[in-house]
Amino acid sequence: MRLSSFRLPRITQNMLWGRKMSESAGKVLSEGKTKIVRETKDRNIVLLEFKDSITALDGEKKDVLKGKSVVNSQISAHFFKLLAKKGVPTHFVEFVEPNMMKVKKLKMLPVEIVCRNIAAGHLVKNFPVKEGTPLNPPVVEFYLKDDARHDPMLNEDHFVILGIASRDEVKKIKELTLKTNKILSEYLKSKNLVLVDFKIEVGRGEDGKIYVGDEINGDSMRIWEAGTNKILDKDVYRKGASMEDVMNTYIQLYQKLLGKTPPI
Ligand SMILES: Nc1ncnc2c1ncn2[C@@H]1O[C@H](COP(=O)(O)OP(=O)(O)OP(=O)(O)O)[C@@H](O)[C@H]1O
Ligand SMILES: [Mg+2]
Repeated sequence: MRLSSFRLPRITQNMLWGRKMSESAGKVLSEGKTKIVRETKDRNIVLLEFKDSITALDGEKKDVLKGKSVVNSQISAHFFKLLAKKGVPTHFVEFVEPNMMKVKKLKMLPVEIVCRNIAAGHLVKNFPVKEGTPLNPPVVEFYLKDDARHDPMLNEDHFVILGIASRDEVKKIKELTLKTNKILSEYLKSKNLVLVDFKIEVGRGEDGKIYVGDEINGDSMRIWEAGTNKILDKDVYRKGASMEDVMNTYIQLYQKLLGKTPPI
């Protein structure tokens, strides 16, 4: 047996990584398609444990990619640290090896906020715009998280009528999204990458303020290599690439962002 393929039994791993065992032992508060939310001893802090699963088409297409949780949790932590440094309020507290983030517990708003710099995906499917068209100023869209209704698009009036957020909060969310876009776009540009679009989720902290929550990584962004437009995100999976190619894409993005090989 090659040493690299040797794995300790899970229980022994947990005993060795005492921290991981205590961190991940908390009660499961919820489990989604790609993450598990666990409580911690602090009622205002939760642990987001990333899973090795990958899904598309509202969960109709799903697979397991070993090591994806490590890659995506670290990329998320990397982006959240950058946003915090630049003054964006986020839920991020600290990264917990090997695939978790300790975060402020938020009351999540049931919405996804999409920000687009270049036309792709749903925009091209639903509107008369050609893929690759630059969008200046960037387009911000809101969607209700409701799988059964296929996530309908929302405007400011819908937020108010559905009791999701006030007009002031919607304004604040849009400002947060555009600030996040500027920071991420400039950062990615410095790495010879183009931020085509991304999705964030937000929630209210115990202080009532709006924070950027959830995750920011190749599952929630479209990133192209500058010059070649090579896709470096989950679109390779949506477009039907082999699992090996999909995992290699996540790894390439990690290498370009963190400048090292992921520990998987
Ligand atoms: N700081 C936070 N506090 C509490 N919940 C959070 C926080 N950040 C993210 N979440 C929630 O954790 C869950 C993460 O799970 P995951 O992303 O796997 O869900 P999902 O499959 O996308 O489904 P859904 O998001 O519809 O629940 C999401 O419901 C997300 O809104
Ligand atoms: Mg999710």
